[in-house]
Amino acid sequence: MRARQFRRLANRLFVDRPESVLRRFKGRSHWPPLSLRRWVGSWADFDADGRWLIDQLSIRDLLPAGAQVLDVGCGCGRLAMALARDPRVAPLGLRYHGLDVDKPSIEWCRRHIGSEHDGFDFEHVGLRNRSYNPSGPLDAATYRFPFADFSFDLVVAASLFTHLVAAEMEHYLGEMARLLAGRGTLWATFFLFGNPAAPPDRHPVDFPHRDGKVAFHSQREPENAVSFAESYVLEVAAASGLELAEPIAYGPHDHLFFKRAE
Ligand SMILES: C[S@@+](CC[C@H](N)C(=O)[O-])C[C@H]1O[C@@H](n2cnc3c(N)ncnc32)[C@H](O)[C@@H]1O
Repeated sequence: MRARQFRRLANRLFVDRPESVLRRFKGRSHWPPLSLRRWVGSWADFDADGRWLIDQLSIRDLLPAGAQVLDVGCGCGRLAMALARDPRVAPLGLRYHGLDVDKPSIEWCRRHIGSEHDGFDFEHVGLRNRSYNPSGPLDAATYRFPFADFSFDLVVAASLFTHLVAAEMEHYLGEMARLLAGRGTLWATFFLFGNPAAPPDRHPVDFPHRDGKVAFHSQREPENAVSFAESYVLEVAAASGLELAEPIAYGPHDHLFFKRAE
């Protein structure tokens, strides 16, 4: 715990301060500091990554006017910042809710997105995750999200299930299904295995530690990167009342778009 706090302080002083000068110089003052960006994998081009997310939503028509959006594991605001700054999105009057276990990321999002853009709020939840919030008091395998049933048109879980263990994944899919409005969509990314038709070796890390339907990159720190059998994820989704809205898009992250089962 102390070591983690010390690392964060050292990062702020010796990484973030110098990098903030560079960011200002390059017109990127709106980016989160490097010590937060490095956790979301888009440290090098935060804007391009965010634009790509919005393009994926736009081509599927998933951002209707007035949409209620929930971003679970929102990190340091990759999607939120893109939504807040994109001129195509501003007239839509979205309501965006970001939730994460990493307090510094949520504090940064509140200060730099929530306070500057209407309709964006961020919540820190003290859920335990050995990689992101090891001392969190709450259990993600039983946590009930603080929202009413059917309240969201779009739920996003980008690079979230790649850091959850099996019981948490099962529970979260159930919760997300509960929260989806009738015609709502869940966009979730996974590292899937077990489908011989999917391209091999497509993920950025390997998963040498397999335990049945789940595989890990690191045995010592399982949440560092988690891979699930495709059939397992689809079974859990079906049991939660979800079905695929389109074929899985396989890639470095596998993208799954779910809707309520008919
Ligand atoms: C790889 S980052 C992805 C962040 C963001 N979705 C993005 O794509 O830029 C994974 C995020 O999931 C968050 N996280 C880990 N466990 C979580 C949990 N049980 N509930 C919600 N968020 C969680 C982490 O704090 C981290 O911000």
